[in-house]
Amino acid sequence: MSPSSTTATRTVLGIETSCDETAASVVVSGTTVVSSVVSSQIDLHARYGGVVPELAGRAHVALLLPVVEEALREAGLGDGSHGAPVDAVAATCGPGLIGSLLVGLSGAKALAMAWDVPFVGVNHLEGHLFASLLEAPELGFPLVVLLVSGGHTLLIEMQAPGRYRLLGQTVDDAAGEAFDKVARYLGLGYPGGPAIDRIAKTGDPHAFAFPRAMAEKGFDFSFSGLKTSVVRTVDRHPEAATADLAASFQQAVVDVLVDKARQAVRQVGARGLCLAGGVAANSQLRARMAEVCAEEGVPAYLPSLAMCTDNAAMVAAAGSWRLEHDGPSPFELGADPNLFLPLIG
Ligand code: KG4
Ligand code: ZN
Repeated sequence: MSPSSTTATRTVLGIETSCDETAASVVVSGTTVVSSVVSSQIDLHARYGGVVPELAGRAHVALLLPVVEEALREAGLGDGSHGAPVDAVAATCGPGLIGSLLVGLSGAKALAMAWDVPFVGVNHLEGHLFASLLEAPELGFPLVVLLVSGGHTLLIEMQAPGRYRLLGQTVDDAAGEAFDKVARYLGLGYPGGPAIDRIAKTGDPHAFAFPRAMAEKGFDFSFSGLKTSVVRTVDRHPEAATADLAASFQQAVVDVLVDKARQAVRQVGARGLCLAGGVAANSQLRARMAEVCAEEGVPAYLPSLAMCTDNAAMVAAAGSWRLEHDGPSPFELGADPNLFLPLIG
């Protein structure tokens, strides 16, 4: 770390390669995003209907350095070839695809070593939690965070940065996984979430009464029965309009997410509710969450669409905070595909 860098001015390069986005970002003082570059591999994987891990890993190798250089240039820091342009390098170390994680993690360690600055490993889920803090630094704790992505569906009480209590999670498919699988079945392509979101706008959300699983059962979720129910309905009603199926499916997912989030806000006595993760980009979920928060009298924090899906600004922000509180990570730190949030209680 350069002698002049205090917490207040520390410049951190964040790197994210846990799935199919190669991303790099420069964040100053933990909250000011000065550049954020995301190179999506959607076109590469779309023809296979989902992410192909081997292809993702190889694409990260090809894209990582150009994306890092672009993030440094956009931040006005040159290309990093003449000494350390930043005070630390943060990279996602899990959860995610092992081959993809290793590319970003190894690249980050190599850059930190070459520049002689600290390296810090970041939990991707904690990164998603920091995305909201980046855009709304004024938010108050405790917060309820609904983290809904392709791999996770978590309802969390965030008491402060670093202090997380798990209220509930999915017992089978993640919400985003359900969107992707149903979209694939309906022939809507990959990624499924945005495709269903789009076509649902023209459909009737009450055309089919799909199940609201575990509605009365605490804060856990289940989405695999819903997917099966969509498949059975199509078998029975081959003439059903895709837009009606998509709208009714989306309504069922959103109903359960919103109801449980509302219960969690009441139980925790939360001072706000945050959405996080790729599914937080869903237009229906955002609209309903805003309504529910207004009814409950708490602010709704709905991150911008770019902050919902995977990006490296959230990694740099979480990395800045971890560096401040726990210090640098050892260079021996490995990638962990199943890493979970560090929980209290
Ligand atoms: O957080 P994310 O970018 O990557 C993971 O860490 O998983 O989330 C990706 C997931 C995918 O399942 C995608 O279909 C879903 O987020 N998603 C959406 C929307 N945009 C992305 N789901 C519903 N509606 C959307 N508008
Ligand atoms: Zn993610």
